[in-house]
Amino acid sequence: MALLKVLEHPDKRLRNKAVPVTNFGAELQAILNDMFETLYKEDGVGLAATQVNIHQRIIVIDVSDDRKSPFCVINPEIIAREGKQYEYEGCISFPGVYDKVERAGKIRLRAQDQQGQFFELDADALLATCLQHEMDHLDGILFVDHLSRLRRDRLLRKLEKSRKQTA
Ligand code: NI
Repeated sequence: MALLKVLEHPDKRLRNKAVPVTNFGAELQAILNDMFETLYKEDGVGLAATQVNIHQRIIVIDVSDDRKSPFCVINPEIIAREGKQYEYEGCISFPGVYDKVERAGKIRLRAQDQQGQFFELDADALLATCLQHEMDHLDGILFVDHLSRLRRDRLLRKLEKSRKQTA
């Protein structure tokens, strides 16, 4: 296993569109292991492969409090959405800054597991938010893209300030 380097804003590679996974072999298992290690190290709830410069449609998630419920979704597609929620989001690629984003409140997802088996999943609350946020990453979309220009500028200034303080 290996820790992967997380791309941070404004790295242009965060804007790449990821391609579907077609090979569910040993290489994919190795990527998943490394992504989980990186997710836990960064204390995130979700990580998209795009963020570690692997441009394939792979997401790892653990929204549990005890950090012991890892699961992955591969080639995910939203097949139904319902309602709205408006919750704070952060992103490992934007360390230390948060803002509220409007998302669907409930979603139904179709995806593949690490063996390539198709499954459907219903998600709401934090899991629904997280899945929508990570799926955006696979299309090169960042959570700040959903903010008004005013709020985005404010958040990016805050990000810059916190970087200067830790530099
Ligand atoms: Ni993110």
